[in-house]
Amino acid sequence: MTAASDTTHFGFETVKLAEKQAKVDDVFHKVAGRYDLMNDLMSAGLHRVWKDALISALRPPRTRPFRHLDVAGGTGDVAFKILEAGGPETNVTVLDINGEMLAVGRERAQKRFPGDDRINFVQGNAEELALPADSFDAYTIAFGIRNVPRIDKALAEAYRVLKRGGRFLCLEFSHVDVPLLDKVYEAYSFNIIPPMGRMVTGEAEPYQYLVESIRKFPKPQVFANMIEDAGFRRASFTPMTGGVVALHSGWKL
Ligand SMILES: C[S@@+](CC[C@H](N)C(=O)[O-])C[C@H]1O[C@@H](n2cnc3c(N)ncnc32)[C@H](O)[C@@H]1O
Repeated sequence: MTAASDTTHFGFETVKLAEKQAKVDDVFHKVAGRYDLMNDLMSAGLHRVWKDALISALRPPRTRPFRHLDVAGGTGDVAFKILEAGGPETNVTVLDINGEMLAVGRERAQKRFPGDDRINFVQGNAEELALPADSFDAYTIAFGIRNVPRIDKALAEAYRVLKRGGRFLCLEFSHVDVPLLDKVYEAYSFNIIPPMGRMVTGEAEPYQYLVESIRKFPKPQVFANMIEDAGFRRASFTPMTGGVVALHSGWKL
């Protein structure tokens, strides 16, 4: 018999912890080529507004060195915004477990920032970063942590690689708490998003996983407690769009 602690969720399905990552990798392998288009369609462009809110909270400095790590960085959206907001001494590492997502990111970076050596792409696992301790000024993870099987390990790694005084910011789908909007959001999520995914990418299952995984992600206060348990101080969160998304923050002090 499998102990409860050896299992986790893959959407609404209960799976062995050791099996979740391969299933997640398969999701992003299937959608990588159409990932950005689907983000715009599904959120009606709102994901850009949420990512801009993350950059506003981060406020990368324009006149001093800034070493940034964007984990589960995928096709590079957050990294690009940090480069645009930061200065000449801003350096961003985009880390993702999925080679296909990174390949799309690299191609986009070459088009948007040709010859710019302030950005680099690294394949790796959020749970075990092959990066030195105390080496980054800030760490972001946008719509990524929900996919990581052992969230506590990823948070511990975030804490380890940040310098003292460093900032942790996490953008993630959350829980809608506005009457009526919650009903509309449920109907939209389950009835529109997977069929839209099938039309655009040829696959509905990755988007069925998306909407289910959002429901399984901890409530924002519970996740804030997990951030504090990893050692971060002043953990806080800001719900956006009626709770569709929350921006979580913590400091390594
Ligand atoms: C929904 S995408 C988010 C991409 C990007 N941050 C954005 O906001 O557009 C989730 C990403 O998490 C990555 N991912 C999943 N598990 C991971 C892990 N254990 N370590 C690093 N990246 C992971 C996936 O490969 C995928 O690129």
